[in-house]
Amino acid sequence: MVRIQRRKLLASCLCVTATVFLLVTLQVMVELGKFERKEFKSSSLQDGHTKMEEAPTHLNSFLKKEGLTFNRKRKWELDSYPIMLWWSPLTGETGRLGQCGADACFFTINRTYLHHHMTKAFLFYGTDFNIDSLPLPRKAHHDWAVFHEESPKNNYKLFHKPVITLFNYTATFSRHSHLPLTTQYLESIEVLKSLRYLVPLQSKNKLRKRLAPLVYVQSDCDPPSDRDSYVRELMTYIEVDSYGECLRNKDLPQQLKNPASMDADGFYRIIAQYKFILAFENAVCDDYITEKFWRPLKLGVVPVYYGSPSITDWLPSNKSAILVSEFSHPRELASYIRRLDSDDRLYEAYVEWKLKGEISNQRLLTALRERKWGVQDVNQDNYIDAFECMVCTKVWANIRLQEKGLPPKRWEAEDTHLSCPEPTVFAFSPLRTPPLSSLREMWISSFEQSKKEAQALRWLVDRNQNFSSQEFWGLVFKD
Ligand SMILES: *[C@@H]1O[C@H](CO)[C@@H](O)[C@H](O)[C@H]1NC(C)=O
Ligand SMILES: *[C@@H]1O[C@H](CO)[C@@H](O)[C@H](O)[C@H]1NC(C)=O
Ligand SMILES: *[C@@H]1O[C@H](CO)[C@@H](O)[C@H](O)[C@H]1NC(C)=O
Ligand SMILES: *[C@@H]1O[C@H](CO)[C@@H](O)[C@H](O)[C@H]1NC(C)=O
Repeated sequence: MVRIQRRKLLASCLCVTATVFLLVTLQVMVELGKFERKEFKSSSLQDGHTKMEEAPTHLNSFLKKEGLTFNRKRKWELDSYPIMLWWSPLTGETGRLGQCGADACFFTINRTYLHHHMTKAFLFYGTDFNIDSLPLPRKAHHDWAVFHEESPKNNYKLFHKPVITLFNYTATFSRHSHLPLTTQYLESIEVLKSLRYLVPLQSKNKLRKRLAPLVYVQSDCDPPSDRDSYVRELMTYIEVDSYGECLRNKDLPQQLKNPASMDADGFYRIIAQYKFILAFENAVCDDYITEKFWRPLKLGVVPVYYGSPSITDWLPSNKSAILVSEFSHPRELASYIRRLDSDDRLYEAYVEWKLKGEISNQRLLTALRERKWGVQDVNQDNYIDAFECMVCTKVWANIRLQEKGLPPKRWEAEDTHLSCPEPTVFAFSPLRTPPLSSLREMWISSFEQSKKEAQALRWLVDRNQNFSSQEFWGLVFKD
């Protein structure tokens, strides 16, 4: 009797815990959804750089490049080509024979190929990588590949060793990945050198009568990097014109208010008038570098950068950006910016590389020269094509080794392919810092939570049987 009651108690405890957890998860998902939509909107508008926008070009390039092959091999015996099964329906392609140099592979999102003996690789898009319906059991010849160019806030559990090392091949923003996408927001070296938007310093000095030295334009507020807290504090020491939804104190001209115009010439012209742009990433991870960093450099404005701790490896030249991490407090940063603002010689040292067209960073030059994909360039493959071909080529190389009776080459992702430290919040003067908003707090708890999810997922995948989401959540909340 007692035992039964205890069990009941336990069961109801579990039930309450589960409900609370579900509510939290739901909130997280709602918030994420909200943010992602926003981010999606603004990033697609700013950069024309999203999956959605890519899909048509991707399809076009398929028609352009593969149409012939496809027709010629209309009756292609599927048995002669390895099948690359996109488990995330990113490309929307129901079936295409794609040529990758001398190799061809069949790319499809059609899950009925799960059991086909030529299915050699599963391709996942990180943001969609989900515990529901993974292709399990995984056979010995089932390679897994992940494409994730996004910030960790889109799927924290991928960013832990137990999950990222499930994959054989990776394409991420990290330089360590098999297909590094670190320069994914930079079209070319030429755009960095371009003087098209550059406003001469004398004009900037005159403009200072009505403009602040610094500009901030951000509409995705309170992301994991907690950038708004930093900027809020900075604003108490130095003037910042803020046009976005976060910390807004200034309005864009009417015709530019629509976020669709973020990429517009008019918008560039406005922010190019400033001496400094606050370029703060939404998350802090090595090599996670977005247009926020490259845009000021393109416009001839000095970026005040916060984000990738390894940013010094990617600067066009030693003196091209001011790094927030080198200042102990926003107060110190403000006083340094004031010094540069009042001393043309000091300021100009930061744009000299641009005026002279000198990019001294060999790592950056090499990365752009050697990457096998283009950014908004119809004459080049996009990075998804490049990812597909990276996997296709590696799978073929192993098929050839095996045909010769040799052991295949092993490919395994390492945790460095996708890793970010736990998010932190800034703590400045307690009077000014607002109490932790649920969102600022949420990133930390959601990161903690994702560690448990990663462990549970790893355990289930290693067990190599399909599993239900109840089983997964049961494991996550085991103790
Ligand atoms: C998926 O492939 C199967 C053959 O394996 C085919 O019968 C089916 O029509 C395909 N589905 C789509 C949506 O193309
Ligand atoms: C920056 O300066 C260091 C030493 O001062 C030098 O070794 C390095 O090559 C420079 N980097 C670039 C990108 O110019
Ligand atoms: C891919 O990873 C799985 C799991 O770690 C491993 O069993 C398999 O051998 C790997 N494949 C290759 C080609 O390295
Ligand atoms: C596992 O897969 C089998 C066959 O597809 C299915 O019948 C079963 O319900 C699945 N089990 C779970 C826990 O999803």
